[in-house]
Amino acid sequence: MTGHGGGERESAGDARDAEPEGKDARAVAEVVGGKERSEPPFLAACRRRPVPHTPIWIMRQAGRYLPEYRAVRKKVDFLTLTKTPELAAEATLQPIRRFELDAAILFSDIMTPVEGMGVELEFRPGPVLPDPVRSLEDVERLRVPDPRESVPFVMETIRMLRGELPASAPLIGFAGAPWTLFCYLVEGKGSKTFTHAKSFLFAEADPARILLNKLADTMTAYLRAQAEAGAQALMLFDSWAGLLSPYEYRSFALPAVQRVVEGLRELGVPLIYFPNQGATLLEDAALVGADVLGIDWRTPLSRARILVGPEVAVQGNLDPAALFAPREALGLQIQRVLREAGSEPGHIFNLGHGIERATDPDAVAFLVDRVHEWTAREGS
Ligand code: CP3
Repeated sequence: MTGHGGGERESAGDARDAEPEGKDARAVAEVVGGKERSEPPFLAACRRRPVPHTPIWIMRQAGRYLPEYRAVRKKVDFLTLTKTPELAAEATLQPIRRFELDAAILFSDIMTPVEGMGVELEFRPGPVLPDPVRSLEDVERLRVPDPRESVPFVMETIRMLRGELPASAPLIGFAGAPWTLFCYLVEGKGSKTFTHAKSFLFAEADPARILLNKLADTMTAYLRAQAEAGAQALMLFDSWAGLLSPYEYRSFALPAVQRVVEGLRELGVPLIYFPNQGATLLEDAALVGADVLGIDWRTPLSRARILVGPEVAVQGNLDPAALFAPREALGLQIQRVLREAGSEPGHIFNLGHGIERATDPDAVAFLVDRVHEWTAREGS
């Protein structure tokens, strides 16, 4: 199993960057700089265009299941890793070298841009805030920073990566969705129920909305700066969307994500929104206006497609635990997801949530290769 050789500077030599040949490949051709060249399958699928094969990438594809990541982490702590462009770029490239992935995702964290708002942040190993936000005064103290000043290292990492990534692996920039960041800011740490965060919504609805809007404005500026630095798609992780009833989702979380999406629309960069545990929220989530909705493993893609309608692409949704199955059973699970995704354009294969740290990297290689093999279209 060979990867992209993503560390090589020469990206034009990648086999999949060749001129389009078949009719499907021609259909995804676009004019770049006056010259026709093929659009990478990942970007084509985001725009619901035909693709030579179903593209695949994996949430948390850079991380502790990779021995080469653990080797880097032996030398530096997580925050230093995210703030050092050479190291963050290296962590981003590691899975691209190993597997034929169709997209790279910036190595960073959803909490990275929050420090610049004026909060103290630690990782143990999840985010911890020694002084959580609990009052209107706390909310008013928070700044909406200029990302070029507060997180210049992120933009530097993106610029480095664009020089090193093969054309077949476009770079995804990302941010946390306002509600999910709200959860960590108010709770002060990870939680199963986020009781403080949820109580704040009900007890302090107006300050809660001010905080969500501040987070929306900070993430809009942050994602815009990532796109300007070279990110080719942008993803919003709403990991805790599923804590809300459809009613609270519509009155708090949804307007804040819509505010971000509206602020980015003119960039013309595909936007992916992932409402985790969002089975009861998918019709509302489709109103966010993203090009792609991430679907967790709890909802079959066939059902998700009906709920979100034909104008939105879907991303997902193999259960991360399926990577622990014997190969034959894993193969059947992959086929099931492909069958449920159907033959309409607009499916990006992914897991239904982040990869588990105990996963065998060889199972990931098997997954990536089978998806490519089983979805290869004629003429490509
Ligand atoms: O490969 C990638 O996907 C890019 C990197 C990435 C990280 N975090 C690196 C990371 C991304 C996209 C994230 C997003 C993120 N961070 C989310 C949204 C996605 C989701 O899973 O729902 C959330 C909720 C966080 C907050 C966070 N950061 C948690 C809960 C943790 C602890 C996780 C754990 O496995 O213990 C982190 C730390 C973190 N972020 C690690 C990594 C690789 C582990 C840090 C380490 O090396 O010790």
